[in-house]
Amino acid sequence: MRKPILIANWKMNGSLHSNQALLVRMLAKLRPFRKAVDIAICPPFPYLFQVRDLLGYTGIALGAQNASSAVSGAHTGEVSATMLEEMGCRYVLVGHSERRASYYESDTDVAARFRQVVSAGMTPVLCVGETLEEREQNETLAVIERQLRAVIDTTGISSLAGSIVAYEPVWAIGTGKTASPGQVAETHRGIRGFLENCQRGAGDSTRIVYGGSVKAVNAAELFQSEEVDGGLIGGASLQAEEFSAIGSALTGAKPDGSSDSFPPESSGLAIPDS
Ligand code: 13P
Repeated sequence: MRKPILIANWKMNGSLHSNQALLVRMLAKLRPFRKAVDIAICPPFPYLFQVRDLLGYTGIALGAQNASSAVSGAHTGEVSATMLEEMGCRYVLVGHSERRASYYESDTDVAARFRQVVSAGMTPVLCVGETLEEREQNETLAVIERQLRAVIDTTGISSLAGSIVAYEPVWAIGTGKTASPGQVAETHRGIRGFLENCQRGAGDSTRIVYGGSVKAVNAAELFQSEEVDGGLIGGASLQAEEFSAIGSALTGAKPDGSSDSFPPESSGLAIPDS
């Protein structure tokens, strides 16, 4: 049985002040889901320390949005996987389409970053997905298999099976366009079949989450297929109500609306595990 996971990708958003306000509201609202679902928050690098402190002992994990393909040394602007692990990160996004498209991260580069995350003892969240043009040319699975193959060739199928795969169609990210539940289920099934062909059991054990304009209004239908093990949430993870409603859709539990003001937004306190 694969445990569902909900991952917040804050991208390049936030400030010390807004992060605190958001997390205090979010932690209270997420309380009902914490046992049924794994939850991770991936803030920008400068806020890892702050978010780690606010998460405290809530059981909600810290994640990062990328890691260097190098171990250490003269790589100005990069952050190594061991640094992230030292900061308390448990998950690291790898190969997000915004990194692939805007910062020219190739499949090989992504695979090298994936390897560093695994070596540092964290769980990579490998983002894969096709552009609109590729989908229209029926190349969706071929593109995703190429992206998966690069990682398998570098670290092996066992490492990939122990990680999380995030299916994020490029055309659905930040656009308000969502893949239909049928398209999501079909693509996840294709990914699972590919992994299973690489190694028996790998398809069954790998958590595959969907990302791309997931919101409170569409979460339940996107998560209805048993192929979907959770979500990687961008814009909607910047609003406590939206994010917790997505958690509710994933688990069937109701968000905790009664705890809006606990702890007070000004307190800076993490909410202890109950
Ligand atoms: P949106 O939810 O804003 O479309 O972003 C999805 C995403 O890129 C998560 O990594």
